[in-house]
Amino acid sequence: MSVRRSLVIGTVGLAAVLAAQTTALATPSATSAGTQAAAAARPPGVIVEGSLRALGSFTGLRIGTAVNTDLLGADPAYTEIVNREFNTVTPENVMKWEVVEPTRGSYDFSGADELVKSAQQNGQLVRGHTLVWHSQLPSWLASNGGMTTTFTDQQVKDIVKKHIQDEAGRYKGRIWAWDVVNEAFNDDGTPRQSIFYKAWGNSTDYIADAFRWADQADPSAQLFYNDYNIEYTGPKSQAVYDLVKKLKAQGVPIDGVGFQTHLSTQYGFPDLQQTMQRFADLGLNVAETEVDVRTAVKPGATAGTFTSEPLSNLHASTQQAYWDQSLKACLFVQRCVSYTVWGVADSNSWIPGVFPGEGAALLFNDSYQAKREYTVVQQDLALAAGMARHRTGEGSGGR
Ligand code: XIL
Repeated sequence: MSVRRSLVIGTVGLAAVLAAQTTALATPSATSAGTQAAAAARPPGVIVEGSLRALGSFTGLRIGTAVNTDLLGADPAYTEIVNREFNTVTPENVMKWEVVEPTRGSYDFSGADELVKSAQQNGQLVRGHTLVWHSQLPSWLASNGGMTTTFTDQQVKDIVKKHIQDEAGRYKGRIWAWDVVNEAFNDDGTPRQSIFYKAWGNSTDYIADAFRWADQADPSAQLFYNDYNIEYTGPKSQAVYDLVKKLKAQGVPIDGVGFQTHLSTQYGFPDLQQTMQRFADLGLNVAETEVDVRTAVKPGATAGTFTSEPLSNLHASTQQAYWDQSLKACLFVQRCVSYTVWGVADSNSWIPGVFPGEGAALLFNDSYQAKREYTVVQQDLALAAGMARHRTGEGSGGR
């Protein structure tokens, strides 16, 4: 992998990074012209000193982002940040079922192919997202938010098997980790009554089958269960814990659990480190897979619109504290193999569309300038550079 070969920071050395904080931790140039010039001067795969990916590599921690393939390649400032700062990428949407098979039997892997190719060129690993999820299903397969289908139980089983074989098989050997099953539980810990749960006779047995089929299709990928609101002690976290413990006991090929980590300053900070350690102690890798920290933002000029400006300095400083704590939770759990942020700039975040009145959830502002949050993450990674190495979890992670 080109990461190792061209790791510029590797020749600079750890002492230099820690000593020369002013140069190593300088906020990257983020003006459009600056990023374009930097991109032109930097061949793909060359690692920039002081970037998040370079600093993370000292502890073997992968630093990732969700990628919007409409912007990748089309928006130079966006593209430069993706490739300079991150060494794993997750397709924000283009590997989801509704995108890859909009009509039954007719596939569109164009966006996914583009992302996988770009990752290869830029020394990045890919987190495949996601094979079995009730949301963003194609309309030929499901309606009512993934709860209803016109197919028989046996047909749904056959369709799911083929989907996993086709998609995971297409990218065999090129995906670092697959989110095989996403969001199978409700917040109260009961199983979500999705078309999958129903087709398997009101049972979560579909999860074991999905992992087995994914393993057959791509034996070298790490296979993850991924969910939100499992970052803290509670019924949902417990339900997932019980599930993955059972899967391990049954010999089902599962390698890890992804904690989405969509945080909001209106809630207390979760007992994330303790929770991830508990899962890691089952012999699983863990990862923070979709980190963002939203807060209340100032209203815009017209009624009903909002800016990406936190409501007050107190809001902003709480966000910074949450970034710091969420990263440290991962750094302190040795089996935490990657830390992925859900997008690049506040202007391309999913948050304002889904949580009106909240935003400012990412590391770069609307004009792609690094925020204080970026510096917090960068400094933590620099400080961690002397810690024990994390597993990088290449391949199946010794399952
Ligand atoms: C979100 C994307 O960011 C949006 O662009 C899309 O409209 C909806 O999905 N949990 C997940 C992600 O696992 O796939 C979701 O991504 C965010 C919540």
